[in-house]
Amino acid sequence: MASQNIYILAIESSCDDTAAAVLKNDTLLSNIVATQEVHQKFGGVVPELASRAHQQNIVPVIHQAIAEANIDKKDISAIAFTKGPGLMGSLLVGTSFAKSLALGLNIPLIEVNHMQAHILAHFIKEENFDTPEFPFLALTISGGHTQIVKVDSHFEMEVIGQTIDDAVGEAFDKSAKIMGLPYPGGPLIDKYAQLGDPKAFKFTKPKVEGLNFSFSGLKTAVLYFIQKQVKENPNFIEENRNDICASIQYTIINILMDKLKLAVKQTGINRIAIGGGVSANSGIRKALKEAEGKYGWKTYVPKFEYTTDNAAMIGIVGYYKYLAKEFSDLSVTAQPRYKI
Ligand code: KG4
Ligand code: ZN
Repeated sequence: MASQNIYILAIESSCDDTAAAVLKNDTLLSNIVATQEVHQKFGGVVPELASRAHQQNIVPVIHQAIAEANIDKKDISAIAFTKGPGLMGSLLVGTSFAKSLALGLNIPLIEVNHMQAHILAHFIKEENFDTPEFPFLALTISGGHTQIVKVDSHFEMEVIGQTIDDAVGEAFDKSAKIMGLPYPGGPLIDKYAQLGDPKAFKFTKPKVEGLNFSFSGLKTAVLYFIQKQVKENPNFIEENRNDICASIQYTIINILMDKLKLAVKQTGINRIAIGGGVSANSGIRKALKEAEGKYGWKTYVPKFEYTTDNAAMIGIVGYYKYLAKEFSDLSVTAQPRYKI
């Protein structure tokens, strides 16, 4: 008998993006993301507003995902959803919706860890993109997380390093805010950095034991530096924007690369996959490419739409869990601090 196709409807609502996707086995059929613009004027995500926007967006986003996938609701094999980590109010919207829909359609429900999903996004079938071979190291870098994970199989993962304070995306966003740039500032720092001199200004790297990271000191260093310079020259930021951005980005990339080098040395694994919003950064992409030639690493950078928060990555975990028959009970709850 020919094996049956598995259709997963995936829902992601952990932070400020309401997302839904449909996968047919490990192939993506649709991937819809409604990004919430409401947070921009506040310079960061406002949890209360995020939950409300999820409530408004979730039905249209899921409808669109099913319509674009060109399937019928009755074709769906299971519903996968983000159980955590993330903001409680945001997670509750996706969790409750997923539970109701699974109950209504009488199909299995699958809980997904958002961090595991950022890593398994590399397994969505795509032409011209290699899938990492096990074991590999995953560097997950975003506005909410910074982790190095040793990945032994689709489900066996061990966090071997993580931030002890701010996430790397926060270092980008908070530095940008200090410079008067709008939220999220990461992409803008990246844009200006490409036109500037990375060695124009020097910011010291934090001293953190082992494979852990710290980014709060960098933000403070940028703040004091800018305050001091602006006191002497009120136009300092405008006159040096590209160089400041290039120098901040250079420092951040160096911190990440130093820890990756140590992780490779400690584990003997030289296959590196990146994920999370910050993996869109041109500096980290370039540094990883160079590391292939310099250190003989094999590096994996996902397709752009799978780097920032999306439901396709939740769907691929859903697919593997479906194969393993790892289903959740309808009493499952959202878990803001859900660990890998
Ligand atoms: O994964 P993501 O969409 O959401 C979570 O935080 O989970 O990541 C968003 C983060 C923001 O901090 C944003 O500034 C950063 O990713 N980001 C970038 C770039 N594109 C997005 N940071 C640096 N360079 C970029 N090109
Ligand atoms: Zn994320």
